[in-house]
Amino acid sequence: MTSILILNGPNLNMLGTRQPEIYGHTTLEDISRRCRDHGAARGISVTVEQSNSEGTLLDLIQSARGVHDGIVLNAGAYTHTSIALRDAISAVALPVIELHLSNIHARDAFRHHSYIAPVALGVICGFGAAGYTLALDALAGQLEIEP
Ligand code: DQA
Repeated sequence: MTSILILNGPNLNMLGTRQPEIYGHTTLEDISRRCRDHGAARGISVTVEQSNSEGTLLDLIQSARGVHDGIVLNAGAYTHTSIALRDAISAVALPVIELHLSNIHARDAFRHHSYIAPVALGVICGFGAAGYTLALDALAGQLEIEP
C-alpha cells in the first residue's frame, strides 16, 4: 500500500485558534482525519506528524526513507529559514510537496523565500485546509495512483 507522510512544523499544532483570519478555524486534528479518510478512499495510507522542533522534523524526514513513498511538508516558519530541512529532503530523495495554508506570496516579504521549494516537486499555498487534500491528490498523481 502506498504510504504518504504529512509533516507539519512549528505552531501548526495551534491551528483552529492561531490567527484564524489567516489560517482558518480548522484544527490539525480535523485536517488529519480528513487526510486519512481522503487517503483511505484512494487506497493510500496517510500518517500525520507535527513537531515544533527542527531536529525532530529532520529525524522524521530521515526516517521516512523506505517507510513512506512521499511527503507533504508544511514546514511553517522553518520554510523560510532552514537549510537543514532542505538538505534532509535532498538526502532522502523522496518526492515532497511543499504546502502552506496561507498564500505566502501575499504576505510579509520574509515569507516569499522558501528554502524548500527548489527541492520540492511543487508548491501548494493559499487554499487553507483544503490544500492538504489537494497536495495528497497531487502526490498520488505523481506516484501514479489511480483515484
Ligand atoms: C505557513 C506559512 C508560514 O510563513 C508560517 O510561518 C506558518 C504557516 C502556512 O501554512 O501558511 O507557520 O506555513
